[in-house]
Amino acid sequence: MVRIRDALYMAALAYSSTSGATQQDETINQHAFDQRLDEISPELDEPGGAGPTHSIVSDEVADVVNQQPDLKLVVISNRVAPFDPSKPQTGGLAAGLEPVVQRSGAVWVGSSENRGDGTERPLPLVETGAGFVARLDLPAADHAGYYRGFSNSTLWPALHSLPDRMSVSEHDYEGYQRTNDFIAGAVFDVRDRDLFWVHDYHLLPLGARLYELGIDRPTGFFLHTPWPAPDMVEYVPNHRELMKSTLKYDLLGFQTNRDLNNYSAYLRTHFGLETTDVVVTTERGQTRLKKFPIGIDPKQFADYLAADLSPAEQEKVSSLLQNFEGSKFAIGVDRLDYTKGIDKRVEGFNQPLRTEPHSISLLQIAPSSRADVEQYQKYREEVESAINRVNAEHGTDRWSPIHYKNDSFSQAALARLYRAAHVGVVTPLRDGMNLVAKEYVAAQDPKNPGVLVLSKFAGAAEDFNENEALLVDPNHPEEIAAAISRATHMPLEERVTRWRPMMDKIESYTIHDWAADYISELDKSRVTVPADQFLHLGLGWTNEAQMPLYQNYATALTAFNEVDPADAALKEAAYADVKSSFEALAAPLMHTQDRLWVLPAPESFA
Ligand code: F6P
Repeated sequence: MVRIRDALYMAALAYSSTSGATQQDETINQHAFDQRLDEISPELDEPGGAGPTHSIVSDEVADVVNQQPDLKLVVISNRVAPFDPSKPQTGGLAAGLEPVVQRSGAVWVGSSENRGDGTERPLPLVETGAGFVARLDLPAADHAGYYRGFSNSTLWPALHSLPDRMSVSEHDYEGYQRTNDFIAGAVFDVRDRDLFWVHDYHLLPLGARLYELGIDRPTGFFLHTPWPAPDMVEYVPNHRELMKSTLKYDLLGFQTNRDLNNYSAYLRTHFGLETTDVVVTTERGQTRLKKFPIGIDPKQFADYLAADLSPAEQEKVSSLLQNFEGSKFAIGVDRLDYTKGIDKRVEGFNQPLRTEPHSISLLQIAPSSRADVEQYQKYREEVESAINRVNAEHGTDRWSPIHYKNDSFSQAALARLYRAAHVGVVTPLRDGMNLVAKEYVAAQDPKNPGVLVLSKFAGAAEDFNENEALLVDPNHPEEIAAAISRATHMPLEERVTRWRPMMDKIESYTIHDWAADYISELDKSRVTVPADQFLHLGLGWTNEAQMPLYQNYATALTAFNEVDPADAALKEAAYADVKSSFEALAAPLMHTQDRLWVLPAPESFA
């Protein structure tokens, strides 16, 4: 391994010895780049003259996961999957990442159910499929501040644009920071792996911690929740410090364009930073922003439907379905969380029952979540009393409009219930993506599909349009009511016409595509790749992620060379373009100086 700084220095020496300049024992800096530009630009007739001595192999590196099965990935999140098919998954993150880790051979680091004394120990790696999971006992003294406090009482409501649900405390923030420090320290054990992929709001500053510890491999972050408008982020104490730390990541992934645009708007408003071609350049270097809409594994859903359930689960599912025999029912499946809009949904459900008694029932599955957070306790009471009111108003001895289950179901059991339900109601006030929406669609019978009623504020509504799902404002129960009524009476032909394109989308971008896409994008910041995927630009090395910048520079240089030297004004303008595009290219080269590179032998590009 060599440091790029040394390679740049050697290039500088080579240049200065041919130009007669005195050798200086210093790192190449912006001034040196400019100086070199002054020298090389006019003397080149072809853009390739200062450019690649090896071509970039962009098509062939598209599927990094398939091409490099030995890619050593580290995934870090607060919650890790149970890796036990009989246990339910809590939330979309665990459901999404389990197959990725098991297939790719990644190490997944997260929190255990236990707390520790904060003393760092070797990573407790346990094999799972081709991968490993390491569950850390997070420091007991800081856990309340980290999880219940800053993550789930401050950030979570802010990220969902619900400032009235927020509580803030400096003490919580300190616990959050210290827990991130602890996790970074534990991850240091696997510092030699290739890529670090951090997930969700619990770990916003983790990339900065890894960077400070000297982990110089690409680090990326993916946010499973929405990212709100700048004025919401301003409610979060220390938001500027937090946001600065996110710029230490090489890649920031969002579920939707709305989230990405909101994040960029903050950078613009608070730091005056512009995102150009979804790249932000700071003094650390570059952070790329990209949308990666998370998906599901539709094939696995089909397998769930085909496989037998355990006798206990079969019994649980059958006895539930008995309640709806001969009548229509809608299904809602959510963590019991105030962002999910369950109370408004129940209120909305009340209305069709007034006009059309007994027309439809609701099966609401809502396992408890974050039960030690006060707002969640209050919300549970609100939801349960709303359900009791509707059942008291419309229920009879033999019929209940709403069946409410507070326990968890396996994915296989849920698949059966989704399949049987005539309507899927997914009406969160805000949601990153909401995989229940996709699971409901995937579980339908192609010949007789149900109808999806979807909040326009769920990320899934950026995937499914109004010709497919029935999109509603989740804050307005009457809209939910009208959509449920419409869904209940929708003719078969319209149901099929709406369902087919949603299913096609689910199949064309699965959870595996999502992971491969993210990893492939993050891998573009990696510098230890084969020599033929690199470019030597005379003063340094660049890689695939920076190619658009190189192309801009090459185009400007061609234009410059084509201008008639007699036209001094035009020549000067063209030169200004060359200079600014070279500066843009030089910035990321400077950024990679401190990273470890495996460079091809110099003679291979002579
Ligand atoms: O998907 C969003 C998310 O907040 C995940 O980060 C989290 O693991 C999941 O929901 C469930 O929340 P919790 O881990 O707090 O139970």
